[in-house]
Formats: sequence, C-alpha cells, structure tokens
Amino acid sequence: MTILVTGGAGFIGANFVLDWLADNDEAVVNLDKLTYAGNLQTLCSLQGDQRHIFVHGDIGDSELVAHLLQEHQPRAIVNFAAESHVDRSIHGPEDFIETNIVGTFRLLEAVRAYWGGLDEQARQAFRFLHVSTDEVYGSLAAGEPAFTETHQYQPNSPYSASKAASDHLVRSYHHTYGLPVLTTNCSNNYGPYHFPEKLIPLMIVNALAGKPLPVYGDGQQIRDWLYVKDHCSAIRRVLEAGKTGEVYNVGGWNEKPNLEIVNRVCALLDELRPRADGKPYAEQITYVTDRPGHDRRYAIDARKLERELGWKPAETFETGIRKTVAWYLDNQEWVQNVQSGSYRDWVEKNYAGRSA
Ligand code: NAD
Ligand code: DAU
Repeated sequence: MTILVTGGAGFIGANFVLDWLADNDEAVVNLDKLTYAGNLQTLCSLQGDQRHIFVHGDIGDSELVAHLLQEHQPRAIVNFAAESHVDRSIHGPEDFIETNIVGTFRLLEAVRAYWGGLDEQARQAFRFLHVSTDEVYGSLAAGEPAFTETHQYQPNSPYSASKAASDHLVRSYHHTYGLPVLTTNCSNNYGPYHFPEKLIPLMIVNALAGKPLPVYGDGQQIRDWLYVKDHCSAIRRVLEAGKTGEVYNVGGWNEKPNLEIVNRVCALLDELRPRADGKPYAEQITYVTDRPGHDRRYAIDARKLERELGWKPAETFETGIRKTVAWYLDNQEWVQNVQSGSYRDWVEKNYAGRSA
C-alpha cells in the first residue's frame, strides 16, 4: 500500500512524512516542486529508506501526476502543496493562483481520471485529503465564537482567497463526481522545520542574530496556535476515519495575541540561551507598519473532530513552544542552510519598506 503526499518537503508536509514513516510501513510517494519553502534537508534521515519515494515536480503537471498515479497506485492522497505565506501573497499573488488554484484543479483532474479507473472496492476505499486553513473563514471580532465548519467563507488576502478557491474545487469534485474527498481547515502551526519567514521561527532566528523582532501594527492580532505534530496526528485521524465529503476544523484552543507569543519566545531564549550582555531579548522588539488587510483574530472550534473522531492535541502551547525553541537552538545548521540568497532577498523586500 502507498499514499501520495504533495508538498512533503515543506514545513507541515515534511513533519507529516517523518511522523508517518516513524510508525508505519506504508510507503510514501512525496511530490514536491521544491520552491524556496521546500527543503530536502528536512528529510535527510530518510535517505536510502525504500518507503520514501521523492519526486521533484509540480502538482500542476498533469502528465507527471497521471504517470505517478498509474505507477504507484496510491490508496490515498494528502495535498499539502501550496504557496503558504500571506505576506508573499500580498507582494506577488500570481504564484498563489497558479499553485493553490490551478495546481489543485489539475491535481483533482488527474486524480478523478485515476480514481475512475479503479475497481469498485478500491474506488470506495480511496481518499483525497485536502489540507486547508482557518484563514478562509476571514477575521473574527473580539468575543465572537470560534470558527465552526459551517462558518461563512470570507477570505481577505490573496493567499486565503486562493485556498478558499481550492477548498471549493475539492468540495465540488465530491458533489459532482463523487470523488471521496476530506478537507481539514487548521489554525496556525508551529514547531520544527518551520521556515523562518513565519512569526515564531523568524523571532527565534532574529533574536539569536541580535536583529530587530518586527511586530506588525500593535501586536494585538490573535492567532490560534497548534503544534505541528498535533496537526499531523489530526490529518492521520481524518484520513483513517473521516466521513467523505466532510470538513474538519483542526485547532488547539490556544488563542494568543502576537505580542504575547513574541514575549514568550524571548523569555524562553532568556532562559535557554541568555544574551551575552545579560539583557532580555524582548529589548529587540520593534513595532513596524502593519500588514495590509491584516486579519485581527482567528479561532478554531475543533469540537467536531474531537466528538466524531476522538482527536485531541497532545501538546499544550507551553510544552510545544518550549520544544520548538529548543529545536531551533539544537538545529542552527538547518536554519543557516535555509537562509539562502532568495531568503535574504525576501527579508529585504518585506521589511525594508516597513517603518518602525
Ligand atoms: P510550506 O510553504 O512550508 O510548504 C509548501 C510545500 O509545497 C513546499 O515544500 C513547496 O516546495 C511545495 N510546493 C509549492 N508549490 C508546489 C507545486 N506547485 N507542486 C508541488 N509542490 C509545491 O507550507 P506549510 O506551512 O507546510 O503548509 C502546508 C499546507 O498546509 C498548505 O496547504 C497550507 O495552506 C496549509 N496550512 C498551513 C498552516 C500553517 O500554519 N503553516 C496552517 C493551516 C493550513
Ligand atoms: O491560520 C493559518 C495560517 O497561518 C496558514 O494558513 C498560513 O499558511 C500560515 O502562514 C499562517 O498565516 P499567518 O499570516 O497567521 O502567519 P504568520 O506567521 O505570517 O504571521 C502570524 C502573525 O504574526 C500575523 O498576525 C502577522 C504577524 N507577524 C508576522 C511576521 C512574519 C508579525 O507581527 N511580524 C512578522 O514579522
């Protein structure tokens, strides 16, 4: 038996592949375009492992995907492949349209053709799990109840709009063609192998390098944080027992303002790797111009997943963030290797115009 994972060299996809193969003999075909966010170094522990078949390619390459499906006959697909960074979608939306919308569409078309050719038993057992985000639901006001699966879609950034479009396509392939799909909408992840363009790893990396810690606007925007391995366990649970055509929200009930997150990261670094001058890392916090169209608050109601499939996160924010900071301290080489020329260009572009 085999599954096909797309985007499995990125942050969540790679954690998923590593966790899957840590306690499972079922092979993984890993299709990844290796954009700036894809990193094979994350998967180096799988070198020589016959259960991991890495394929460098694009989900939008219909011929390649059709060939892979025929060759490996996967019983399931988990679609992580996407452009994932909101700030990049503001500077240049096109890649988001290309991968998240057109790419997902082409992938669905190839999967539909493959699935249609399976025998009845295999068709019944087949699953296409689409990994999506809470950002498709838009922004919550203070005191509003958390997003449930039936919350209206109100995407506000080119990123979230492109993910919303992909969710709708996935839904339509179930409704129209009967493709056995599952969709998960998760809140903000954090943990090992997180690319340092995103809030938590950027703060750790900048703090250690003695650089400013850029907080957008007033820093009171709220995100709902989930340790990445808990997201991976939720996806596995949905893949195993989710009802086709259903949507499952995934979250850790960990709503926190950004400033609190940054201060917590600083305090952990003060404890685990104090600054040479003995001063607190929080001194490096700098308020910069806000993100255009910045969503104020996300919060996920994950009760459906808990009630119907018995899933619960294993980590609290406190245990997860401590593990995360420790991981970055222990894996400086990984960080240095992802800080390539294109990463430096991005930092220059995103933060240069943001006045403090
Ligand atoms: P990421 O940017 O770290 O990784 C994306 C991966 O997809 C990279 O390895 C990249 O090379 C690959 N990729 C990009 N375009 C591709 C294409 N056309 N064909 C094949 N591969 C391609 O993203 P992530 O944070 O790991 O997110 C994975 C998925 O989870 C995304 O769909 C994202 O929308 C969703 N999600 C992320 C979060 C989060 O907090 N990071 C939360 C909820 C949902
Ligand atoms: O909610 C799920 C989403 O979480 C995923 O779908 C996205 O793929 C993922 O990137 C993430 O989106 P966010 O925009 O919430 O994540 P980011 O880490 O970019 O920012 C988190 C918050 O921190 C957000 O309010 C913006 C703020 N921020 C971010 C950066 C990079 C700062 O204040 N300073 C920064 O330098």
